[in-house]
Amino acid sequence: MNNSSLFITFEGLDGCGKSLQASRLSEYLQKAGRETILLHEPGSTPLGEEISRLVKWHEAGHLSPITELFLFNASRAQLVQDTIKPALAGKKNVIVDRFTDSTLVYQGYGRGLDLEMIRQVNEIALQGCQPDVSILLDVPIEIAATRRKKTSDRFEAEDISFHRKIRSGYLELAENEPERWLVIDGTLDKGLITEIVTEQVIWLLESKEV
Ligand code: TMP
Repeated sequence: MNNSSLFITFEGLDGCGKSLQASRLSEYLQKAGRETILLHEPGSTPLGEEISRLVKWHEAGHLSPITELFLFNASRAQLVQDTIKPALAGKKNVIVDRFTDSTLVYQGYGRGLDLEMIRQVNEIALQGCQPDVSILLDVPIEIAATRRKKTSDRFEAEDISFHRKIRSGYLELAENEPERWLVIDGTLDKGLITEIVTEQVIWLLESKEV
């Protein structure tokens, strides 16, 4: 009986390996006959892709942290409305590579905005669609840096202290809400990480089905 579904998010530093694991999980669930959609933030709608280009690659001058907060949430609001809400209503699994926790960590811990203010703006975009489980692939910043692409966007180009704040921000969020987070050592073998993720997700799905 495959009648339950989950809203799953993947989080971590750029280069932590989350995109690979998100797509492997999506393939696994689809092959197992469970309807699943895989999305990425910012983006995954035509408007979101335009916002993504703007916020990641904007060169003509400075974007304020509050502008970033609203741009990421504008992309999110569209994605929730067009795709996530209908998919969850149709009992599909939804996997998103980055979601609201990225905003808390990057615009909050990284840029210094107040976490409560970010939560309030995130809530508006969410329309009640909260992730059931959030998977953090935790890697030391030095390892993440070696795994990243050669060309750096506005976030990847930040200095080491920014990335250090991102990593510790994620660990703090996970520590404060252990019932939602699954923290995995992202330096483990990729195949092993896939096994840990799929085992946990199947266990969660099956426990919703009994
Ligand atoms: P990516 O498309 O390569 O994952 O890059 C997205 C970048 O945007 C990444 O460095 C993290 C950053 N980001 C934020 O700063 N806030 C957010 O809310 C989201 C979703 C991403």
